[in-house]
Amino acid sequence: MLMLENVHAYYGDSHILHGVSLSVQEGEVVCLLGRNGAGKTTTILTIMGYLKPQPGRIIYQDRDIASLPPYRVARLGFGFVPQERGIFPSLTVAENLTVFARAGAQRRWTVERIFALFPSLKARAGNLGFQLSGGEQQMLSIARALMLNPKLLLLDEPSEGLAPMIVREIIDVLRRLKQEGLAILLVEQNLHTALAVADRHHVMNKGEICFSGTSAELEGNDTVLRTYLSV
Ligand SMILES: Nc1ncnc2c1ncn2[C@@H]1O[C@H](COP(=O)(O)OP(=O)(O)OP(=O)(O)O)[C@@H](O)[C@H]1O
Ligand SMILES: [Mg+2]
Repeated sequence: MLMLENVHAYYGDSHILHGVSLSVQEGEVVCLLGRNGAGKTTTILTIMGYLKPQPGRIIYQDRDIASLPPYRVARLGFGFVPQERGIFPSLTVAENLTVFARAGAQRRWTVERIFALFPSLKARAGNLGFQLSGGEQQMLSIARALMLNPKLLLLDEPSEGLAPMIVREIIDVLRRLKQEGLAILLVEQNLHTALAVADRHHVMNKGEICFSGTSAELEGNDTVLRTYLSV
């Protein structure tokens, strides 16, 4: 469904991605792991069209999307949950959910279904964004991406900085989305979260993929775990 082929990316003159190749199939949860500064967010931003691959190909449903601006990429069915969450602090939970919702098209996700998936958001529907805890903000950010009825969800470190109990809730939500057949590219530093939800993993270091394999292959690879993931 999504395939990156030999993608290079720059911030100005800084060459950050050095030939990244990875893929996500329909209905699959794939994890992109790596330490701080490995290039995970840069990879996601390049997929979303904020950075242009130079060179490199980004194929989505048999079409090269590398030249499209972010709003066009989003319209193709990408749900993006950024690392900084990006919810609107002065809108309520309910308003955050409906602000981007498109009229018309058959809606897989409605506010009611979102609230069934995230009961804690339902209880906070009238609260303003800035009044939410970190975990609630993360859930709202995921919920808002779902309101766009994505075919592929890109999540940038959703468990970062959250208490273990909240991380478990997020893992549970991601598993339920997977059961529904949603394809997910999950950026993580937390190996436990990665193994709990993903089928396949790519590990990044200094802008390059240094390991690709299944959960069993990753768990069995002490060198990769110790060298690139500080396990
Ligand atoms: N706007 C920018 N301008 C220049 N360099 C940047 C910029 N953003 C990130 N970088 C550099 O690019 C490299 C990759 O950063 P990136 O944010 O993709 O890493 P990451 O894997 O997402 O890390 P983290 O886990 O800390 O979020 C780092 O060396 C970082 O310093
Ligand atoms: Mg990052």
